[in-house]
Amino acid sequence: MSRTHAVALGLVVAALVGLPLAAWLFPVHRPETPSSTARKDNSTELTGTVVSEEPLTGTSVRIKGTPVATQTDSAGHFHLPRPSAASRITAAKEGYFIAGTAADARPLSLTLTRLPDIDNEMNKWVDPVAGGGLPNWGNCTQEIYAEWSASAHARSATGKHLINLYDGSDWDGKPNAGWSLLRDHPNGAGVCNACHVPTMPFDGEAYFDLRNAKGVAAQGVHCDYCHKVQGVGDGKVGQSHGRFNLRLLRPAHGQLFFGPLDDVDRGEDAFSPLYRESRYCASCHEGTVFGVPVYTTYSEWQASPARRAGKQCQTCHMAPTGRMTNLAPNRGGIERDPKTLANHRFFAKSQEEMLREAVSLSAVLRRDQGAVRAEVEVRADGAGHRLPTGFIDRHLLLVVDALDADGKSLPLKKGPVLSSVVGPALAGRPGKLYAKLLTDFDGHSPAPFWRADPEPTDTRLTPGQPDRLTFDFPERTARLGLRLLYRRFWQQVADEKHWPDNESVVVDRVVRVER
Ligand code: HEC
Ligand code: HEC
Ligand code: HEC
Ligand code: HEC
Repeated sequence: MSRTHAVALGLVVAALVGLPLAAWLFPVHRPETPSSTARKDNSTELTGTVVSEEPLTGTSVRIKGTPVATQTDSAGHFHLPRPSAASRITAAKEGYFIAGTAADARPLSLTLTRLPDIDNEMNKWVDPVAGGGLPNWGNCTQEIYAEWSASAHARSATGKHLINLYDGSDWDGKPNAGWSLLRDHPNGAGVCNACHVPTMPFDGEAYFDLRNAKGVAAQGVHCDYCHKVQGVGDGKVGQSHGRFNLRLLRPAHGQLFFGPLDDVDRGEDAFSPLYRESRYCASCHEGTVFGVPVYTTYSEWQASPARRAGKQCQTCHMAPTGRMTNLAPNRGGIERDPKTLANHRFFAKSQEEMLREAVSLSAVLRRDQGAVRAEVEVRADGAGHRLPTGFIDRHLLLVVDALDADGKSLPLKKGPVLSSVVGPALAGRPGKLYAKLLTDFDGHSPAPFWRADPEPTDTRLTPGQPDRLTFDFPERTARLGLRLLYRRFWQQVADEKHWPDNESVVVDRVVRVER
């Protein structure tokens, strides 16, 4: 018998007598205590082997919870510095469950088990919401649960704005209030589920109306869906939406969770580097719907300076908060470096905060031939895509006000003004609209994406390309008010729907004219 086989057999025997399994992370709690009976051994190095049916080369081996890691060689062997305290050694390779063993186990050998070959569609989704003492995501990882609950992913199936646009209702639930997908395009109403309700059961007619979402499906883009993603399909990004272009792996028995960490050795977790790549987000964040480029964030990112600098969506949107140190405190979780744990709020602090940090607005004022000339520059260099991005109706408004010494508003002499699509309160004011604007087939705009000419007029900001504008105001101008407003939807729609929360102020600044 070769040496490797002897080692493999040794481990199989060890597995049969029940090696302790680590537990700290996902729904089922199996607390782990690292072995404390470290053997007296004077060498400063640990040597071991990783096998499956055969020795496994190119496997990452780590001292659990630390940055100390290595790869196995062609014979499946690895060397690691001997850890000082009682530790666990974990091994991970794509296509296998992560395994772990006590650092003082002899022989030090880890056997990886292959992932199942087929996705089992009958799998029940693990509920994200805590309660009932059941194994579920919310009970285990409370901090991540709190972040996710506050994120748009948690309300992607039930958000009130979405439902109001979907069935034509308003904020108070009254029907026939303005834009309505079901009224205009009833046959298209099933399209939204692919991204908004990715675990909606294929249940005959009921599938085609997202208001039928119940139970875990109504939790929208939830933990268990996202962490069962094994890969991206072969469909064309933008044409094949959400669930139809994400490959899941659901086991027939037991559990399986994919994630970005390679040292979660409870026996039901698998390492996947995809979780730190933009490709993971692409199928839901790029979408041509009814021929209209409604979502173009992924392709915008592909063309961005951020991508060239090696930044993925997760780099900005899931950047560690630095607060969380333990994913499952008192549930078998271990202390970790907070800089290794991602933020499931999907915004650093809040969207407003991230937006504010991503844009900059500056103005140079000069007296010039009987006028005050303002050279305004708007930059979006902090974003990894156009600004705004995401849902097609999002827009930014630059509004410029000239005031005399008494604070009286002065008229514009020359320069760009806001058009009537921004609504009566601001139409005609000096400024600029940054938007993807759709027009319907009768020439009206704004128009809902489900009945619009497929070609939007796109005036949004592009990172790395400052927008420069010149405004001339009367000579007696004493100061200039510069505001940048962010709106989630068109004002006319927000008014019809009685939405209370449509607009936020990103920048509000006053610049004085030098005497
Ligand atoms: C299964 C589809 C799906 C996947 C995968 C997905 N998202 Fe989303 N995401 C959505 C949907 C749907 C919404 C909108 C929810 C709503 O407001 O109705 C959303 C909303 C967001 C928002 C919030 C926008 C806002 O207005 O508040 C951000 C940011 C975001 N996603 C980033 C990401 C990133 C980064 C990834 C990849 C790590 C990702 N998403 C993966 C479907 C997905
Ligand atoms: C939109 C998909 C999505 C949803 C929804 C989601 N996750 Fe994640 N999760 C990810 C991605 C992507 C990463 C990797 C991020 C990184 O490392 O940059 C991740 C990382 C993790 C990790 C590894 C540790 C860490 O924080 O990096 C844990 C644990 C985790 N998620 C648990 C959860 C739980 C619990 C929920 C629900 C309450 C949840 N996830 C919801 C996509 C998702
Ligand atoms: C360099 C950092 C960076 C990268 C990389 C990045 N984003 Fe963003 N993203 C931002 C900032 C800043 C904002 C806030 C500005 C805003 O709301 O438009 C934002 C906003 C968003 C929004 C909300 C738009 C809205 O107004 O509703 C979505 C959705 C989004 N990003 C998705 C993504 C996806 C998907 C990727 C990867 C394909 C990605 N982002 C890559 C920085 C980044
Ligand atoms: C390709 C995936 C995909 C499809 C298909 C899709 N959406 Fe979305 N939807 C998203 C993502 C991602 C966001 C988040 C972007 C953002 O917040 O800026 C979103 C956001 C929205 C929002 C904004 C929600 C809010 O509260 O701000 C509305 C409304 C919306 N979608 C309606 C629809 C409707 C109606 C359909 C079906 C006709 C649909 N979507 C189909 C991915 C999709």
